Amino acid sequence: MDFQFTEEQLSVREAARQFARNELLPGVIERDEHQKFPADQVNMMGELGFLGMMVSPEYGGGGMDTVSYVLAMEEISKIDASASVVMSVNNSLVCWGLEKYGNAEQKRKYLVPLARGEVIGAFCLSEPEAGSDATHQHTTAVDMGDYYLLNGTKNWITNGSTSTYYLVIAQTWPEKKHHGINVFIVEKGMPGFVIGKKENKLGIRGSDTHSLMFSDVKVPKENRIGEDGSGFKFAMKTLEGGRIGIAAQALGIASGAYELSLQYSKERQAFGKPISQHQDVAFKLADMVTRIDAARLLCLKAAWLKDNGQDYGMASSMAKLYASKAAMDISTEAVQIHGGYGYVKEYHVERFMRDAKITQIYEGTSEIQKVVISRGVVG
Ligand code: CAA
Repeated sequence: MDFQFTEEQLSVREAARQFARNELLPGVIERDEHQKFPADQVNMMGELGFLGMMVSPEYGGGGMDTVSYVLAMEEISKIDASASVVMSVNNSLVCWGLEKYGNAEQKRKYLVPLARGEVIGAFCLSEPEAGSDATHQHTTAVDMGDYYLLNGTKNWITNGSTSTYYLVIAQTWPEKKHHGINVFIVEKGMPGFVIGKKENKLGIRGSDTHSLMFSDVKVPKENRIGEDGSGFKFAMKTLEGGRIGIAAQALGIASGAYELSLQYSKERQAFGKPISQHQDVAFKLADMVTRIDAARLLCLKAAWLKDNGQDYGMASSMAKLYASKAAMDISTEAVQIHGGYGYVKEYHVERFMRDAKITQIYEGTSEIQKVVISRGVVG
C-alpha cells in the first residue's frame, strides 16, 4: 500500500492551498454575510484549471486523477466551502456525466467551455416533492418528435442563476417509472426557462442556490444525453462521483476548523497556561485529528477506486457519511474551544459549523448514504 502522493498530486494541492489563502480568504466573511457569489474567484478557478480537473485535455480539462481532485477540494474547502461547492458540482455532477455519456457534438459544444471554466453548470435532480426519493420525478419531458416539451420545477439547485448550462432530469415515459427518465442539456435563456427565488441559507451562503421553473421549454432532441430512458442511471452514476467531492468538502471544513482550533488553543491562555495544555482541550484536538485522518483515508480510497476502474459507489457513500458527520462534530467542537470568540464571525469557526450541515444533506442525506451502504452489505 502506497501512502505517498505523486509530485503532480502534491503540486495540485499546493496550488489549491495558495489560491485559497490568497484569493478566497480575503472577503470570505463578507461574502457569507451578504450571500455574495464569489464570481471573480470562480473565474480564477476556471483559469487555474480547477473547474474541469478530471476532464481529458482533449475536451479542455486538466486530465488529472480523482485523488488530485480530493486534495484540491480539501484545500479550497478549508477556507471557503461556498467556492468549493461550485467547483464540486461543475467537476463531478456536470463535466463528468457529459464526458462519460455525452456524444461528440455535446462534448464539443458544452463540455469544452465547462471544463475550461469559461462557463459553469448545474445538476438539476431535486424537486419540491422528490428529494431523497429521486425516482419520483414530477418534471416532464414529453417527446414531441423534433423536440421535448419540458415542464416542472427544480429546487435547491446549486449554481442556479450563475450557470450557463443545466443538466435537467425529467420523466418522459411515466408508465416506465425510472426507466422512462431522461437527462437533458438546457441552456440559460431558452424560452420558458425561468430562474426562481434565491434561497436564504444557513450555510454555504456565498453559493448560489435557486429554484428553477420550466414552462413549455422546447428542448431540442439532440440535447438528450444517452439512450432514451437512461436518465435515472445517469443521475445515480453521476452522484457516486459527486459524493466523493462532497466528502472532500466536508473533510476540508473539518480540517479548517481543526487547524484554527489548534492555533487558537496554543495562543489562548487560561488558568496560567495555553488552553491546549488543558487535558479537555488536548483530548478534543486528539479526537479531531484522528477523525480527520479517517475521513481523509475514506475519501482517498473512494478516489483511488474510481481512478483504478473499480466500483466506488459504496466507498463514496461511506466517505460522505463519515466525513460529513466529522465535519459537523469537529466544527461544533471548534466553536466550543474558541468559547465566546467562536460564536462571532471574525474567527471563522461559526461559519464552518453552519457550512458543515449541508454536507449531511445534499447529494443524498446521511440516511441515503446508509441506504446505499447497507444495500452493499446485505444486498
Ligand atoms: N448506479 C447505477 N444504477 C443505480 C444506482 C447506481 N449507483 N443506484 C440505483 N441504480 C438503479 C437500480 O439498479 C435500479 O435500476 P433497475 O430497476 O434497472 O434495476 C434503479 O436505479 C432504481 O434503483 P432503486 O430501486 O434502488 O431506487 P430507490 O428509489 O429505492 O433508491 C436511492 C435509490 C439510492 C435512494 C436514490 O434515489 C438516491 O440516491 N436518492 C438520493 C438522491 C440525491 O442524492 N439527490 C441529491 C440531489 S443533487 C444535489 O444535491 C446537487 C447539489 O446541488 C450539490
